[in-house]
Amino acid sequence: MNFSIIGTGSAFPSCTKTNEELSLLIDTSDEWISTRTGIKSRHISTTETLCDFAAEAAARALKDASTAPEELDLIICSTARGDHITPSLACEIQQRLGAVCPAFDLNAACTGFVYALDVAFSYFSANRAKKILIVSAEAMSRLLDWQDRSTCVLFGDGAGAAVLAPGDSLLSIKIGAKGEIDPLYAENTLGNCPYSQIRQVDPYLKMSGKDVYKFAVAAMCGDLTQVIREAGLTEEDVDFVLPHQANLRIIDAARSKLTIAPEKYRHNIERFGNTSSASIPILLDELNRAGELHDGNILALTAFGGGMTTGACILRW
Ligand code: ACO
Repeated sequence: MNFSIIGTGSAFPSCTKTNEELSLLIDTSDEWISTRTGIKSRHISTTETLCDFAAEAAARALKDASTAPEELDLIICSTARGDHITPSLACEIQQRLGAVCPAFDLNAACTGFVYALDVAFSYFSANRAKKILIVSAEAMSRLLDWQDRSTCVLFGDGAGAAVLAPGDSLLSIKIGAKGEIDPLYAENTLGNCPYSQIRQVDPYLKMSGKDVYKFAVAAMCGDLTQVIREAGLTEEDVDFVLPHQANLRIIDAARSKLTIAPEKYRHNIERFGNTSSASIPILLDELNRAGELHDGNILALTAFGGGMTTGACILRW
């Protein structure tokens, strides 16, 4: 059995910071950030927990899907780091919603939403679920070194969610991983075990921007070409491309190598920065709520992230 997306939602912490505001904190400028990335502003959690806006995105998706929490058979949450190491963010969201189903987190860095769709597809195929909630939620601001201008300007906090039910939407999907720590990683804290002989390095996100850039452009082009072909479609058939919102220049570079019309690539990175695995469902929710998606539209989703993970899929709306 296949699935369709029957509802979407998104939510953000209330505080926003513009590039100009960041330039009061670190040696940067709106000109540097916006010309290299397309980002103008981002949300940053100051008083909210990650679960606060993750559960809000989930509740909005359930409302859009006219689905009660008790109807859910599974909650999958993609996040790089929840509010707690245990319990999972998915279990916290479950408690907030009042759902009674199994719930677990999945970490595939920025590719998490596509990975979650792939896992959900397996549940539907095995006839193990009728309603699945996916929540992709990230508080990237907590992973960043706010003294490192080369990374802290790039990211934002936010959550996107989708409710899935049996249908015929997924036409093709692929996920992959390369098994690499460099060029993008953040170490976990090591605790205070007196016997440990491993040295604690700082726990902030490290990135080699140029390496990520090259990997991302190649992965997006290759994956899009493959999933379009496997869906039995051509690039002309695609109505919307929803790329992971890491950097406008990455999206533009991938776009220049494919024949999909430029206006079909959608972005909102200027307002949200890179929200990691939340970026695609946030964009999907924006298009859905704006009434831009019509029955039968072909959507191409493509993502890459730490790991290095990759994923892409074709959905018929
Ligand atoms: N403000 C001002 N100057 C800066 C800043 C900043 N915020 N950050 C770095 N610089 C400086 C550097 O110090 C360097 O100065 P120098 O030449 O005097 O040494 C100069 O700007 C150029 O730095 P580069 O790293 O070469 O800049 P580049 O043009 O490569 O752009 C960027 C950096 C935007 C990160 C680019 O490499 C990129 O787009 N990489 C893709 C990675 C990405 O988007 N990652 C997102 C997260 S990954 C993910 O989502 C999976």
